[in-house]
This record gives sequence, structure tokens and C-alpha cells, in this order.
Amino acid sequence: MLLLQSYLSFFLLISPALAVLVNRTIDDTIQDSSGNSVQYSPNEPGRRAWNVGGCSQCAAKGLDTTQLFDKTWHDGTYNPDPGSNDFPNVPLNASFSFTGTAIYVFCAIAKTTTNPTGNSDMSFYIDDVLSGTFVKQAPGVQGYDYNVLVYKNESLSPGQHNFRLQNGHVNGTKSLVLLDKIVYTFDDGSDSSTASPSSGRDETPSTSSSSSASPSTTNGNSASRSRGKGGLGTMSLASLTLLVVPLVGTSYLLGFWM
Ligand SMILES: *[C@@H]1O[C@H](CO)[C@@H](O)[C@H](O)[C@H]1NC(C)=O
Ligand SMILES: *[C@@H]1O[C@H](CO)[C@@H](O)[C@H](O)[C@H]1NC(C)=O
Ligand SMILES: *[C@@H]1O[C@H](CO)[C@@H](O)[C@H](O)[C@H]1NC(C)=O
Ligand SMILES: *[C@@H]1O[C@H](CO)[C@@H](O)[C@H](O)[C@H]1NC(C)=O
Repeated sequence: MLLLQSYLSFFLLISPALAVLVNRTIDDTIQDSSGNSVQYSPNEPGRRAWNVGGCSQCAAKGLDTTQLFDKTWHDGTYNPDPGSNDFPNVPLNASFSFTGTAIYVFCAIAKTTTNPTGNSDMSFYIDDVLSGTFVKQAPGVQGYDYNVLVYKNESLSPGQHNFRLQNGHVNGTKSLVLLDKIVYTFDDGSDSSTASPSSGRDETPSTSSSSSASPSTTNGNSASRSRGKGGLGTMSLASLTLLVVPLVGTSYLLGFWM
């Protein structure tokens, strides 16, 4: 039993090194390879709320598209008063469902205080629970900041999550969102030696470091799948070796393996 435990803990120790964490980037406009896309609301025919950036009635103009992922963004203004869109005093949502353990949300941020009003009042929900905000007054100079990380969460429980960005608050201050992209991290469950960098245009496999081998990372569905594969090998190797045990000293074996 002691020996079996030793083997199991040996494989538990090395198995996190086999997990491959992959980042997938979701454009504001285009579906990702898993068929998911960002959902925008309110979304009613003939009534303006969110717009594909660059449109004639959009709040923000003159962005440098070369600094935006896929050169696209979504433009949405929360305004307590009428004038910005057809939903005065209605906070806007951008929602996205994904399976992963981390999420990063990137926006462009206007630096002007008028044309457009660049103030930010964003709230971020994971599975309907408020878990972050990005509230910022525009400095009042020309131009935009790009690739601004407005929200990150690297401690999600493994599994499916619903992310929601809420722009503004009822009776709150006017707020602009220029959503560029969302990045999320998942464990693709493959052995690092068989992972190929061509698994997706926006996916760059990277082997997890020992620091990411936390209990929350290694309890993932994909992680347990790869653990399962290793587990079979572990068990047959263990039972095979148990036959040899009487021939070899336990201390020798432990010394050999540890
Ligand atoms: C995923 O992207 C984020 C944001 O760019 C980065 O901080 C993180 O290290 C990346 N994770 C992996 C596994 O590549
Ligand atoms: C935004 O999402 C929240 C939570 O699901 C919901 O209560 C609210 O009605 C949504 N707003 C719009 C405009 O769809
Ligand atoms: C990440 O989201 C979880 C909810 O799933 C929450 O408990 C945690 O506080 C969040 N972490 C950060 C850094 O926002
Ligand atoms: C918003 O303001 C109106 C008018 O003052 C008030 O009746 C309403 O309760 C307020 N709602 C919130 C959520 O603060």
C-alpha cells in the first residue's frame, strides 16, 4: 500500500506538467472556433444600442484599426439621458459563455471628455456575481488607448462560466465601451509533447508552469481526462512492478523513483 501510494503520488506530482494551458482569443464580432460569440443587449430590431465600431452613428470615430484585434470593435454608450441611443438609462450588456479557468477582457478607451465622452463605468459579472469594475474618468486629451486590460480573472473554477460586461448603472454617469476582444484560458487536456502550435489561429499552447499546478487548475475536466490516461499507465506499471517487489528492496525502489 505504501508502495502504491508512492507511485500514485509520483504520477500526481508529474501530471500537472502534462497539462497544456491554451489561450483562445474571441473577437468582439467574429465567432470563435467553438462556435461561441459575444452576445449584445439590448438587441431589438430598429432600435440602436450597441454598434459595430466605425458606423456613421457610432460615438467613437477615428480609431487606429491596426491596433485593434481583427481591426474590429463594438461601440456602446450608456447614457442616463436620451440622445446617445434608443435606450436611455438602460445599462448595456455584452455576455460571453466559455469553458476555462481564466478570462481577460480588452477594450479601447477614449481619452477625450467630449466627442466622444470617454468616461468608463464598467461592471464585470462571472456567473451573475459581480466580480470586478473598471471605473475611470477620461483625462480630456485627444486619442485612444488600445489593448487596455479592463478585467482579468485567473482563478475561475474549472468548467463553464458566463461572463457579462455591464456598461453603466441605472441613474449613473454616461459611459462608453469600445470592446475589442476577450481572451480565455483553458486546459486542452493534451500531453505537452503532442501539442501542436497549429491547433488554432489564435491559440498558442504553453506548458503550465509549476506555479499554475494549483488544486483548482488540476481539478479541471480536461485535466482529469489527461490524468485518466496517465492513471491507466500508472496502474498497470504499478501492478507490474508489484510482482517484482519481492525481488527488490522497497527502499531501493523508492530511492530509484524519488
Ligand atoms: C493568456 O493571455 C493573457 C493575457 O494576454 C496572459 O496574461 C496569460 O499569461 C496567457 N496565458 C497563457 C496560458 O498563455
Ligand atoms: C443585462 O443582464 C442582466 C442580468 O442578466 C439583466 O437583468 C438585464 O435585463 C440585462 N439588460 C439588458 C438590456 O438586456
Ligand atoms: C474570479 O471569479 C470568481 C467567481 O467565479 C470570484 O470568486 C473571484 O473573486 C474572482 N477573482 C478575481 C480576481 O476577480
Ligand atoms: C432612478 O431614479 C428614479 C428617479 O429619481 C428613481 O425613481 C429610481 O428609483 C432610481 N433607480 C435606481 C436604481 O436608483
